[in-house]
Parts: sequence; structure tokens; C-alpha cells
Amino acid sequence: MDNKTLLEKLNTLSIEEKIGQLIQLTGDFFEGDMDTVVTGPLKKLGLNTDYNIYNTGSILNITNPEKIIRLQTDYLEKSAHKIPLLFMADIIYGYRTIFPIPIAQACSWNYEEVENAASIAARECYEEGIHVTFSPMVDLVRDPRWGRVMESPGEDTLLAQKYAQSVVLGIQGNNLEGGAVPAHKIAACVKHFAAYGAPVAGREYNAVDLSEHALREYYLPGYQAAIEAGAKLVMTAFNTLNGIPATGNEWLNRNVLRQEMNFDGVLISDYAAIEELIMHGYAEDETSAARLALLAGVDVDMKTAVYANQLKNVITGNDYMLELLNEAVYRVLKLKNDLGLFEDPFRGLQEIVKRSTSSILSDDHKQAALSLTEESVVLLKNENNVLPLSREMKIALIGPYAEENSTLGMWAIKGEETDTINLKTGLLQLVGPDNLSVCRGSYLLPVDARKTFDKYADKLAVETSSEEDLLQEAIRNANEAEVIVLALGESIYQSGEGGSRTNPALPEPQLRLLHELSLLGKRIVLIVYSGRPLILTDVAEKVDAIIQAWYPGTMGGEALANILYGEVNPSGKLAMTFPRSVGQIPVYYNELNTGRPNLKENGSYRFASRYIDEVNEPLYPFGYGLSYTSFEYSLLTVSQKEMKTNESVDIRISVSNTGTYAGKETIQLYIRDKFASVARPVKELKDFKKVFLHSGETKIVEFSVDEDMLKFYGREMEYKSEPGEFEVYIGSSSQETLLSFSFTLLREDQHE
Ligand code: GLC
Repeated sequence: MDNKTLLEKLNTLSIEEKIGQLIQLTGDFFEGDMDTVVTGPLKKLGLNTDYNIYNTGSILNITNPEKIIRLQTDYLEKSAHKIPLLFMADIIYGYRTIFPIPIAQACSWNYEEVENAASIAARECYEEGIHVTFSPMVDLVRDPRWGRVMESPGEDTLLAQKYAQSVVLGIQGNNLEGGAVPAHKIAACVKHFAAYGAPVAGREYNAVDLSEHALREYYLPGYQAAIEAGAKLVMTAFNTLNGIPATGNEWLNRNVLRQEMNFDGVLISDYAAIEELIMHGYAEDETSAARLALLAGVDVDMKTAVYANQLKNVITGNDYMLELLNEAVYRVLKLKNDLGLFEDPFRGLQEIVKRSTSSILSDDHKQAALSLTEESVVLLKNENNVLPLSREMKIALIGPYAEENSTLGMWAIKGEETDTINLKTGLLQLVGPDNLSVCRGSYLLPVDARKTFDKYADKLAVETSSEEDLLQEAIRNANEAEVIVLALGESIYQSGEGGSRTNPALPEPQLRLLHELSLLGKRIVLIVYSGRPLILTDVAEKVDAIIQAWYPGTMGGEALANILYGEVNPSGKLAMTFPRSVGQIPVYYNELNTGRPNLKENGSYRFASRYIDEVNEPLYPFGYGLSYTSFEYSLLTVSQKEMKTNESVDIRISVSNTGTYAGKETIQLYIRDKFASVARPVKELKDFKKVFLHSGETKIVEFSVDEDMLKFYGREMEYKSEPGEFEVYIGSSSQETLLSFSFTLLREDQHE
């Protein structure tokens, strides 16, 4: 439909029909006869009884194609305006083919594969009738106590930008003709705007207090990258930002998002976030909440009655509010138009369901998941090269994750655990049962843990043996083996939304198991399943190798087996710091130097920025990850030592694989702005290259540092570079600098 016709359509709508387009409900409102609906979900949500559900604009989390066809057909028959419903869902890192959780994907530093994963998720969504997915989540996070680390791209702004761009392009496609979303693609919704990843004390939904400088420098660029990639929707965050709830924050959503970031798509609230303006103490009642949210530019009310019950009051007699309503409705209609719903409300679904073929869980999709998982796993320790294992070794696979299929993470709403290849299955694809014993070894969680999980309690594994029996079996198996592969981790229900932890560590029963096994004098390879960096300091001393598996998705077991036996050389690099202790949190690589840096040469000098009971350094730093091979870098050429703003410093290095395994290395380029009008971080990631090298192979790798990489937000929030000296560090992690040099950015008056 062309724009003129769309506007005409808008102008034909009554106030109630316009408001209806801004309402998002769940599917239960459309099941059963009207009496059932009115006395059931409608009453429960508090919708006025005269609310006409056939004015509703969109449906949340209905993902069954036949049901979607039935709902859309019924809706179009009964709605007066005949505007099709939008179907939106949380498909964050895979539909049925589940990829590694986003924090793991960010550790791959392979954004072509991240984009491909998103493209596969979109394809599977398209084939099941979903129009919009609430992904990418790009909330930068520096605090592993927060449960939603698992769905974040981690602590670094550049990686957040790369992740945001890759996922949006994967979901929507590139260069949309006139904004139209092509077949096999759906619409992306970037979230949560803004800075939801910085809650005080890492406690879920807690307040966020950030300087405008920190907000702009570190937290906003990820969302900006998603919008520049064309994201059709943005979702508001639950949190207050500097005292004002994001969902009612006019400065954030109109000045920053719409004007500065030039976003003209749909802004949807997070679940019930408009109504929560009352609980925040920001709106005195529902009418005020509706007015504040509309003034703040929120177009769609996800799953509350506030817009439905109150917007008519807010708008009556107020031309400005009516104008805001029309703008919001127009954006929703435009989204539906971009998805082609006016031409085909089913986007081809009726034909698709008739076909027996589907791309869901196809071999290609599973191969893509396997490949990305293999690149997302991070080798954190490998003492005495205990890894890779040889297939002739007798291995004791022990732990609650030895044959656990619940490794998809909290946001795999369509993932089937039965589709998952668990670790035992993966290993048995490579070695025979004679060389592999398998046992549980311990409970996954303490027995009293159930009460902390409310509605998830019934999903927790039921432990059928006593802890002592499990331990004795583990010891027997271990004593008969050459190497112990210990598969431990936090429950997926200890991670994700509502999963904040004050002590992000392995559960107590598993620590006891690890301790007992460490007394046997056997080599131990620890595999960690988690949705966040856990505190592994004590654990690391008791094992010979550590593999960070995250929640690896459908193909997890096969990917881990390939890595354990050296079929694949691990290449993941941490996208988030692993602290040594909770007391260090937040600890991240791009910190400021302070006026009293804790310099090694000062030893334990008291009056420096340090602790008296812990070192400053993390256990494993940002950008860190080991390989089965080794790499050497040498600096070949640096184009110039002085740079004008319209030039770049071009760098050529050579990287050699000096080990015996082929492998991939992620060469990281960091800069340090030595002095500026605001204090600048000791290091900032500005580029990286992931290269494959055969054993003995050498490649030339080139980087260019240009003025854009040197820009930052100054005192008045102006985004600019400043002349002066810069250091360049090139290395295999944020702490492992292998090459460094400095150059000067010249002042304009020095440009001869
Ligand atoms: C949840 C999450 C959000 C999700 C939405 C819809 O509470 O905060 O990420 O997309 O509700 O399920």
C-alpha cells in the first residue's frame, strides 16, 4: 500500500480503532467464546468490558502456524477495519534450531556467522508465521550478577555495535526496497532502551544511574547500530534512567531515540512497563501513565490495560495528544505495510503450511549452529596441554551436565530439549562406550533450591539418587579413567530474566564433587555451562583445563566433543571479564587510569587505587581465550607517526601459527588516548581481525586507524577527536599486548 492510501486508511479509523492498534495482547484473548474472554483474560487484565478485542493491533508469543492462520482469519472476519494483526515473539537466538546464547555468540568474534544465525532464526520464524522478533538485545553489561548477561553481547561497545548490526541484518535483510521486509525475513526489535544492563548492584529491574557521558560513550552505541542497520522496532526498558523510567522518559525516547538517532519505527513498551510507571511512583494512576507514555513516544502497550482504558480520556479535547496518537498509529500501520500484511495478512503462511518441506532444523541450519557454537566456546585454561584428548584415552565424563539436554538458556521459547545433542551424545559420536564412562556425580542444585525458583521449580531435574551414591559412583569411574571430564554449571533457571545472583558461582553440590575428585590425582578437564561469567578462582586451581561452554544450544554436545578431541581448535575470546571475586564487580577492561593507578612497581603501596584483600586484575580478562596452537605477531609497517584528521594510520603486521594445530586467532587492536578534555580509558577496542592459519603458516594482517576511531564524547557531549598522542596496542587479549606503538593526531593548524 502506498503512503497516501495508508494515511487515508488511518483517517477512516475511529478513536477506539486507533487506540486498538496500540494494544498488544496474548493469544488467550482470542480463544473461546466472548463470554469466556470477557470473564477470563479481559477481566484479569482489567480491560473495560466494552473493549473490542477485534480492534487489537498485535499478539504476543503465539508461534503455532495453524493457530496464527486461524486467529488472523477470525480476526479479519470480525474486525470492522480489516487491518491485519501483527504476531510478535521472543525469538532471541534461534527458533527451533537454537544457537549459543548471545554472550557466547559475542565470544565468537565472527559476525558473519552471527548474522547467518539470525538469518536462520528469521527464516524459521517466517515459516511459522511470526512477523516480529524481540531481538537483538544489546544491553551492554559489566556486572555478572545480573541474570540477563546471557542474552547480551557483553561489556564492550564495539562488540555490541557489531552484534546489533549483524543480528538486525540477519533478521530483516539488507537494503530493504522502500522499507519492505522481503520473504523469509521478519522485523527486528532492538531492546531494551536504554541501559537496562546497568542496574544498581546487578539486581534485576533495579534503578540505573549513569552519567550522560557514560550513557552516550558506552551504552547507547549498540542501540544506535541496530537502528542504523534498519531495526523496525525498539523496546523500552523496565528501569529508571537517572530517576525517570525509560518507558516514560521523553528525553530518552523523543530527543535521543527519535531525533538524535533518527528512529522513525515503532516503540513498544516492555511487558507491562507502561502500567509499572505507577509502581515506579512516576505516574499517580493509569490515566497519568497513559499520558506520560504517549508523551514519551511509546507506541504500543505490551500486555496492560492502560492504553486501552485510558487513552480516550487523555486524548479527548486535546489536539496535541490526538496528534501523538495519530503518529503512533501511523507507525504501527507502516510496520504492517512494510511486512506486506495489507496485501497478504498471512505472508504466504497458508501455502507454507501445505508444503511438507520446511527449513526448520534442516541439516544446513544445524551445521550453522554447530559451527557458531564451536567458535563461541572459550578455552580458559589448558595446563600441560591436557587438551586435546586422544580417542584412545579412557575418559570419565562426570557431572550434572554430562547428559543434560537443558542447555538452551532461558530465551529459547521454541527450542525442544529433545532436539539437543548433549555432551555424552556428542562424545559417543567420536569415541566408543569402552573409552567413556558417564555418571552424574552430584546434584545440579542444593536440595532446598527449589523454593527459590517458584514457577520453574517443576522444571528442575529430579534427583533420584542420594548425593553420597552419586559421589561414590563418580569416584569409582574416575579411578578407572585417565582423564576426568567434569561437566558442571549453573542451572539455566539461575540465569536469564529475574536471575540475578549475589554469588555467581558453581552450585554448592557441584563444588563438593569437584573438590573430592581433585583429591584423586587425576587430570581434570572442567566444562562450565553458564549464562554469565562465574567466579571460578578457587575452581581453576583444582583443574588442569577449563572450557567455557555457556549455554551452547542444539548442537552443544557435538561442538564440545569436537573441541575436546581436537577435531576443532577452540578460537573463542571473552566478550566479558571473569572477575576473581564478587567484590571486584564491576570489573572491566576499559577502565580509567585514576590519579593513583596501582602500578606493579609500587608493590603494595597503600595509597593507590587498589584493594588490600584482592588484586585489581580479573581472573580472565576481556578478549582472552586460548588455542591448541600458538601464534606470533610481528609489526611490519606503520604508515606514519603523525596523522591529520582526514588521514589514517595504516598498520601491517604478520601473524604466524607457530604451533602444530591449525587454528583461528582474533587479533585485537586497542587504542589509548593519552590525554584529553575528559579522562579516557586505559584501553579501548577499536578493531579486530579473526584469521585462520595452518600450522606454520604466516599471514599479513592490516589495520587502519582513522579519526572516527579516536572520537569520544567531550565535556559538552560533543562527539569529536582531540589532537595529541595515542598509543596502539595489538594483541591476543585486552591484557596480552604483543605489539605497540604510538602516533600523534595533529592539530588543524599543524596541517601544513
Ligand atoms: C520480558 C522481557 C523482554 C521480552 C518481553 C516479551 O519481560 O523483558 O525482553 O521481549 O517481556 O516477552
